[in-house]
Amino acid sequence: MYIVYLIFKYDFKNVLFLKNLYLFRIIMLNLRCYYRYYCIILLIIFLVLCFNVYLVLFFSRDETSIKIAPTVKYNATYLAAQNILKSLRILDKDFELPIKTSQSSILREINILLSNLKLKINGDIDLYSSTINVINENGLMPLYGSPYLGSTINLLKTSKIIKTCYSIKGTQLKLLLTFENKQEVLFKPKWYLESEVIHGNVYAGKDRYNGEILAFYISLILGFPRVPIVVKRILDSTELQETATIGLKKTMYINSTTKETCIYGKCYYCKREDPICTKSLRLEGAAIFYLPSFINLKQYLHPWRRSYKENQRTRWETDNNFCDYIKTNYDLERILDFIDIAMFDFIIGNGDRHLYEVMERFNNSILLIDNGKSFGNPYEDNIDILAPLYQCCLIRQKTWDRLKTLKGGKFTEILQNMLDVHETISLITLPHYYALERRMKIIYASVVMCQKKSNESIFK
Ligand SMILES: *[C@@H]1O[C@H](CO)[C@@H](O)[C@H](O)[C@H]1NC(C)=O
Ligand SMILES: *[C@@H]1O[C@H](CO)[C@@H](O)[C@H](O)[C@H]1NC(C)=O
Ligand SMILES: *[C@@H]1O[C@H](CO)[C@@H](O)[C@H](O)[C@H]1NC(C)=O
Ligand SMILES: *[C@@H]1O[C@H](CO)[C@@H](O)[C@H](O)[C@H]1NC(C)=O
Repeated sequence: MYIVYLIFKYDFKNVLFLKNLYLFRIIMLNLRCYYRYYCIILLIIFLVLCFNVYLVLFFSRDETSIKIAPTVKYNATYLAAQNILKSLRILDKDFELPIKTSQSSILREINILLSNLKLKINGDIDLYSSTINVINENGLMPLYGSPYLGSTINLLKTSKIIKTCYSIKGTQLKLLLTFENKQEVLFKPKWYLESEVIHGNVYAGKDRYNGEILAFYISLILGFPRVPIVVKRILDSTELQETATIGLKKTMYINSTTKETCIYGKCYYCKREDPICTKSLRLEGAAIFYLPSFINLKQYLHPWRRSYKENQRTRWETDNNFCDYIKTNYDLERILDFIDIAMFDFIIGNGDRHLYEVMERFNNSILLIDNGKSFGNPYEDNIDILAPLYQCCLIRQKTWDRLKTLKGGKFTEILQNMLDVHETISLITLPHYYALERRMKIIYASVVMCQKKSNESIFK
């Protein structure tokens, strides 16, 4: 059976198969001549079977190999991707073994984070001010979360909405919801099923609401608490109709055949012919905590942004020494930020980070806002998103320690445990889980590759 499977799937490896057949024939001959020594014969048959099992395992390893995205056709990014894949093929097996929680202070801290995700605080505490009070230079909350985290998430999922309008920020349809206590959230509607695979270039398609939610949890696991809280929220038609501002109502209508409420809003890509409509009178989406204005969010162009034009290459796509130029224009801490972000974006599959935001109020520390172009295609890894990592060959020591701690399946295990608390596993499909683990290994391979080719330590 294994052999048939082999021919079927890998007929180019016929040579090996024939060799096997030959072995089999020899065994049959042995059978005739030495039938008294059936113990030995059985042993040989057993060995041959083992060899076949080994072959199947060996080739099925090939099967999980990664597709290089079609965008990676420029020489610098292409060559780098090849080298990384080479490094991946010889990656130390140790990267597949999980670490015990008791042996790692990072995993113990993540356990505290998990317990903070659960509902803890009830009563009259102003959860939104508590959420804002923990923001500082190190991010939007401590690495272990905050005792208010779970309750705040719950509040964002359930608070009564008093006003709904469209948001003019960005290029895609977004709603701005105002809660009873004046806290605002940005609402990105669900355009796709979670299982839908987005084809095309790395920034193709509309925002993925589940990507926004997953990016929030993944940022916490990776130790970058720099994504504002995101929850899944469901709006119903009546709620939409009753809370919509006059401006929003002008871009809203009820489909006379389906009786569903449709909104097309106002934005760069908003069109009357392309509305988002309720399904069974419900509109699902991601609700994103709106950061207070006092943090003074500032936006800058990302130096590794894409050209967004089919035939136009940017410098980093063709110049392997692009990082030398970056080093003369940015300080080391910011470069290490770009590298952290690159790994985060690579894992979630976001190739659309053309801007980055910093909190001017908190020493210009960086944030990860707008992660909607993630979780598009689980079968494709855009290694060029890692360009800041493999072109600079630097990584923060604490980021590397954390990434290594998450090896051997721990990463997705933790993600699953986190989603279990407030969201459901249905936010993410199995192919995406595999993609997350596979991409972690590609990052390990990139770092190992950098380590090998560098004289100095790449860990900062
Ligand atoms: C109403 O919904 C139906 C079914 O989805 C669709 O074919 C039709 O174009 C919609 N009508 C309008 C005015 O959008
Ligand atoms: C990459 O391509 C650019 C433009 O086509 C060319 O100038 C450069 O020499 C190439 N670099 C390498 C390393 O092949
Ligand atoms: C602020 O940022 C600068 C540059 O990244 C860094 O050198 C400095 O230590 C930071 N200060 C604080 C208080 O975090
Ligand atoms: C690495 O070290 C060797 C010997 O110390 C030196 O000759 C070489 O230039 C170094 N290479 C780099 C890239 O720094």
